[in-house]
Amino acid sequence: MTKRKGIILAGGTGSRLFPITSGVSKQLLPVYDKPMIYYPISVLMLSGIREIAMITTPQDRAQFERALGDGSHWGVSLTYIEQPSPDGLAQAYILAEDFLNGAPSAMILGDNLFFGHGLPDHLEEAAKQAQGGTVFGYRVTDPERYGVVDIDADGKVTAIVEKPEVAPSPYAVTGLYFLDGTAPAKAKSVKPSARGELEITSLLELYLDEGSLTVQQLGRGFAWLDTGTYASLLDAGNFVRTLSERQGMQVGCLEEIAFDAGWIDRDALAERAEYYSKNAYGAYLKGLLTETSKIK
Ligand code: TTP
Repeated sequence: MTKRKGIILAGGTGSRLFPITSGVSKQLLPVYDKPMIYYPISVLMLSGIREIAMITTPQDRAQFERALGDGSHWGVSLTYIEQPSPDGLAQAYILAEDFLNGAPSAMILGDNLFFGHGLPDHLEEAAKQAQGGTVFGYRVTDPERYGVVDIDADGKVTAIVEKPEVAPSPYAVTGLYFLDGTAPAKAKSVKPSARGELEITSLLELYLDEGSLTVQQLGRGFAWLDTGTYASLLDAGNFVRTLSERQGMQVGCLEEIAFDAGWIDRDALAERAEYYSKNAYGAYLKGLLTETSKIK
């Protein structure tokens, strides 16, 4: 199988966060101690993906490049692609068609945060499927706000319904999609919805119709947070702070993931630790250089 590539959708208008997002992209706002975009990057890296396209608005691109560079600090390669206007999640596959060049992909929304024991196993399972698609279902109290999976008595997904008035199940489709190399061609056949967007749900329906869509449920104990409103942004920050302070382990630390994967060496990690030497992030990186036992 051609190596799977990553896409991060970090455009959009962020209008629910106005006026915070009047002058800065939502995905560059802080979630406790790092920019929001670090968390979705960490999920792709944990999936073993090293080639990532970052889709941004034309006006925010330069800020992303300044914040993230070419990805070499983390042993990955970042390519920037502009989305002229926020015309929907499925458009990402059309914009990234040349970048993907036929490869299967994992796409994640730039404002989604996933955390939980066993996440790498879920990601590995999805990543090894060469054909078809995998999405992740997550139980929520307000499924009407999301794409929702309809499940039959055997637990098989029969439909995905976008923002239903009455939800057929409590399982929302999260913002992480593992699709095969046919995604760009399929995305081109998607017609804009009533709100004028190329809906990801319509693209997933094409896979569902083919019988090639798998839904993995993320169970109890997993956190899937999106950070698109005032309260959810603050909640996500508090969540990261609570976890990392209690355990002394970082959430979404890209240098750590890269070091563990062998994508950066000790010298590169030491150099990053030095760069951040004035704060706790740097101290944490320094600690990784001396730590000998780590239970995952
Ligand atoms: P949304 O939260 O649906 O939209 P938004 O970020 O523009 O925010 P708001 O609703 O407050 O105006 O988008 C989910 C994620 O997908 C977010 O990270 C932005 C991204 N996105 C794009 O990159 N391009 C798009 O065309 C759309 C619709 C979203």
